[in-house]
Amino acid sequence: MEATVAMLHCLLLILLLFLAVVIHTKEEPYCEKRSVDDGEWHSDWCEGDLQLGSERCNIEVRDSCDLTQEQFLEEYARRKTVIIRHPRDNDLFRDGCKRHNLLKNYGSKIIRLSSANTYSYKKVDTTLEHYINHLLNVQPSDTLGNETWYWFGDNNHTEWEGLFSLYQLPAFHLPGHEPAMSFGLAASGTGVPFHFHGPGFAEVIFGRKRWFLYPPDHVPAWDPDKSTRSWLEEEYPNLSEDSKPLECTLRPGELIYFPDRWWHATLNTQTSVFVSTFLSP
Ligand SMILES: *[C@@H]1O[C@H](CO)[C@@H](O)[C@H](O)[C@H]1NC(C)=O
Ligand SMILES: *[C@@H]1O[C@H](CO)[C@@H](O)[C@H](O)[C@H]1NC(C)=O
Ligand SMILES: *[C@@H]1O[C@H](CO)[C@@H](O)[C@H](O)[C@H]1NC(C)=O
Repeated sequence: MEATVAMLHCLLLILLLFLAVVIHTKEEPYCEKRSVDDGEWHSDWCEGDLQLGSERCNIEVRDSCDLTQEQFLEEYARRKTVIIRHPRDNDLFRDGCKRHNLLKNYGSKIIRLSSANTYSYKKVDTTLEHYINHLLNVQPSDTLGNETWYWFGDNNHTEWEGLFSLYQLPAFHLPGHEPAMSFGLAASGTGVPFHFHGPGFAEVIFGRKRWFLYPPDHVPAWDPDKSTRSWLEEEYPNLSEDSKPLECTLRPGELIYFPDRWWHATLNTQTSVFVSTFLSP
């Protein structure tokens, strides 16, 4: 009798362990419940996310409260990329970037779109309202970079002064460099393929933006006319561990710093509103 009870206990324990393992390893899709204010940019987080996201983050993450300007200069400024959480309080600016506020205040303004290829050489003008209502669609993998229209930069700072003046620039600076802000709004699946330029910061205001970076001496293999999405789907899975990029997905209230001439590519895994602060001598 005792032996039977012990055996039952044992079986029960094994069953519980088995269930625990099954529940634990069940793959959750990379997708979140709509729990935070999304600025009205997504009808549904899961739908917008396209499984392009990843929890992988191999870039150092610091909290702005624990990072002094001296540490920033010593550890990162000319040396490596870093993600800074809670950079500044940009709640007022964020509010102005909600879908209905942008449409109400700036819908009729002309914006200049760029083609999303490495050398972004084509431009086209349209109204913000037309862009939001007709062009801000998920980009399929087979769309070429030069055939995707993307709003980033080429901002008219006079017309947008009311909104842009609300943005608190990153608190960290590079001696001898001046910050210049660029504003963007882009659909899920869009992104800019690998390229480099001077140093700067980029912050996500709404949405999710996945970043891929390499130091200047590691030239990535990529086709400058193809989109980041197609690179992610076709080339990235074949990379050896050694040739994988530094990467992380930025969420609202996270800021990435990239030093001078670092290669980087971006991919909006949700419709995103974002700001870059380029630092020029
Ligand atoms: C985009 O680039 C491809 C070559 O990679 C070219 O065949 C195509 O015509 C280009 N599209 C546009 C709109 O320029
Ligand atoms: C910016 O907007 C102002 C006011 O509408 C306009 O006068 C100016 O020409 C625009 N600047 C550019 C570079 O388009
Ligand atoms: C990546 O690997 C797959 C499977 O081995 C292969 O079919 C594909 O051609 C490779 N892609 C590239 C770009 O090398």
